[in-house]
Amino acid sequence: MKTLHSPQSVQRWAAAQRAEGRSIALVPTMGALHEGHLALISAAKKKADTVIVSIFVNPTQFGPNEDYARYPRTLDDDIRRCRELGADVLFAPAADDMYAASFSTWVNETVLSDALCGLRRPGHFKGVCTVVLKLFLICQPQVAVFGQKDAQQALVIRRMVRDLNVPVKVILHPTVREQDGLALSSRNRYLTESERRQAPVLYQALKQVAQLKKQGHSPAQIRRKLIRHIQTAPDARIDYVMLVDEETMAPVTKAAAGTKLLIAVAVFFGKTRLIDNVRIVW
Ligand code: PAJ
Repeated sequence: MKTLHSPQSVQRWAAAQRAEGRSIALVPTMGALHEGHLALISAAKKKADTVIVSIFVNPTQFGPNEDYARYPRTLDDDIRRCRELGADVLFAPAADDMYAASFSTWVNETVLSDALCGLRRPGHFKGVCTVVLKLFLICQPQVAVFGQKDAQQALVIRRMVRDLNVPVKVILHPTVREQDGLALSSRNRYLTESERRQAPVLYQALKQVAQLKKQGHSPAQIRRKLIRHIQTAPDARIDYVMLVDEETMAPVTKAAAGTKLLIAVAVFFGKTRLIDNVRIVW
């Protein structure tokens, strides 16, 4: 496995692969790799002849009061794990290599980005779209793999790809979880022991959605039940609990049969903000 730092060197490598008829799959990450990321890399290996994993803690998707400075950085471990999994290239650029001091061009998806995490984190998806399009142009993949864990992110990227005719197939991989249901996240390491014990409440609540629907509850009733369930964890501070239409991200209180719903939650435990979601067809 090659570790490359400059966008130009990766672009050259990717162009050479393509010239020789080899396909490329990209797995974009911010590092601090866990089993969730590794599952994406394994899936990517099955989708193309070669795999690039990018590791870049992207400053433009963090708000001023967010955790950019303290976001975990474990590059040596990450390199070892990518090599073990058989990635071909690890792309780890410096922030200066991705953003020139006079950087002034942005990609802004304006509908799906304006809900859920986008409302709570203004500018977040503009940073995500911009860096992901840059990564696509640098790595030139035919396929890119994203996690269902960040469902809104995946939907925003799919929309960007459709709207801008980006020749990349976006593949979604199911959320990888701990045995107790907690979705793996680089941020789980911030949880205190007591918060960690309470955190599985997110998925315990979300897991009941299908059953509640079967029992005849409306989306609005399900939302209230989820809120009440999550509030049984003493340290949980709800940021949002939303049932939205996947096509528009508009909140749904009553759904027509066949509507694709995303049920998404964001909950603080102390300073740590956890997100999780499930999808159902109504
Ligand atoms: P990061 O949070 O490192 O996540 C990288 C990829 O791993 C994303 O597609 C995310 O959805 C996926 N992922 C994270 N936890 C997962 C889990 N438990 N199960 C399955 N997949 C999981 O998302 C980002 O980085 C950034 O926003 C990025 C797309 C790299 C742009 O900077």
